[in-house]
Amino acid sequence: MFKINDNYLKLPGSYLFSTIGKKVNAYAAQNPDKKIIRLGIGDVTQPLAPAIIKALHGAVDEMAQAETFKGYAPDLGYEFLRKAIADNDYKARGCEIAADEIFVSDGAKCDAGNIQEIFSGDNKIAVCDPVYPVYVDTNVMAGRTGVYDSAKEVWSDVIYMPCVAENHFAPELPKEAPDLIYLCFPNNPTGSTITKSQLQEWVDYANKVGAVIIYDAAYEAYISEEDVPHTIYECEGARSCAIELRSFSKNAGFTGVRLGFTVIPKDLKCGEVTLHSLWARRHGTKYNGAPYIVQRAGEAVYSEDGKAQLKQQVAYYMNNAKYILEGLKSAGYTVSGGVNAPYIWLKAPNGMTSWEFFDYLLEKANVVGTPGSGFGPSGETYFRLTAFGSYENTVEAVDRIKAL
Ligand code: MLT
Repeated sequence: MFKINDNYLKLPGSYLFSTIGKKVNAYAAQNPDKKIIRLGIGDVTQPLAPAIIKALHGAVDEMAQAETFKGYAPDLGYEFLRKAIADNDYKARGCEIAADEIFVSDGAKCDAGNIQEIFSGDNKIAVCDPVYPVYVDTNVMAGRTGVYDSAKEVWSDVIYMPCVAENHFAPELPKEAPDLIYLCFPNNPTGSTITKSQLQEWVDYANKVGAVIIYDAAYEAYISEEDVPHTIYECEGARSCAIELRSFSKNAGFTGVRLGFTVIPKDLKCGEVTLHSLWARRHGTKYNGAPYIVQRAGEAVYSEDGKAQLKQQVAYYMNNAKYILEGLKSAGYTVSGGVNAPYIWLKAPNGMTSWEFFDYLLEKANVVGTPGSGFGPSGETYFRLTAFGSYENTVEAVDRIKAL
C-alpha cells in the first residue's frame, strides 16, 4: 500500500487566501444584494500596460509563423530577458549580478516554495512573524518544521522573529543561529521596510553564521523613500549569502500572466558546491521554462514605454494606499505601511481579534481584508488592507469603514 507524505497532514487548515475566499463566497451567496469590496488578497486590478500588450501581440504573431515559432524555452530563461533584468534591476543600481545568475520562472510564489528543496532537511529556518504563509507551509510540507503547537500557532523547529509595533515591524537578529533566513522587504503583510544599513547587518550576520538569506523583493517597485534598498545585492557581501526572489506580478500586473525570477550568485557556496548549480539542476529537471510569449512581455517591462507606463500604474496603487492610510488615521485607527508597499497594516479596534474584525468588516461594511493572525501569531489583532483595488472601490471601502 502506498504511503502519503504525511507532513501535509500537519498543515493546519487550508491556505490563508483559500479560507478567506470560502468565507467571502459564503457571505456573498447569502447576501446577493450586497456590493462586496475585496481588499484582501494582494491581487492587481489594473489592465496590463499598452507596451506589454503590444509585446504579447507581437510574440503571438511570431508563434503563428514557422520561421519565428518557438518551442520549449531555454530552461533557465531567454537571454534577452535575463540580460534586460541584469542591466535594469542590478547593473543600473551598481550591483554585480550577471545574466547567467538569473533564473526565469513562472512566478515568485513557486520559487519561494520550491527553493527550500535544495537545502538539507535538517536545516533550521527563521521567519518574520507575521509572514507570507508560503515560506513556512512549504517547509512544513518538506518536514523541516517539527511539531505544531495549535494553542500558540507555532512550529517547534522554526525560529520566529516577531515584527511588532515596538520594533517598527523590523525583525531583530535571532538568538539561535538559523540556517535559512526568509526576509521580505518591502514587507508582506506589514508594508514595513528596513534601511540599507539594517539590511547590511543581516548580510553580515548571515555571512558570519553561515546562513543563507532568501530575500523576497516582490514589492521593490513600491519603494518611495531614499535609503530603502531595492535589492539585497546593494549590500556588501550579499553575493556569498543571499538568494533574491523577484516577481512581475506587483510591478507589472502579471498575477494572471505569471513571470518571476530568482537570483543565485555563483559565489554562494556550501563547501565547493554552488547553490547556483543545484538550482540549475532542479530547474532543468522539473521545469520547461516560462512561455516565450510571456518572457517577451517581461522584456517590455524594461522598455522605455513600459517603464513609464508602469511607473504610473504603481503610482495609481500608491495613491490608493495614501487614501487608505490617511482615511483610517483620521478615523482614529492605528495604521502603518502603505508608504513603500501596497499594504496597509492596522490594529483592530476595541480589542477585537483579527478574525473578529474580519467578520465585523465583512458584515457591517461589506469590505474584505486579511486577518493579521493568518500570517502568524504576532499578527493577532492586526489586519491588512491592500491598495490593489480600483480607486473608486478603495474610496468607497474607506468611507464605509469610517462611517461605522
Ligand atoms: C498576498 O495577498 O499576500 C499576495 O497576493 C500573495 C502572493 O503574491 O502570492
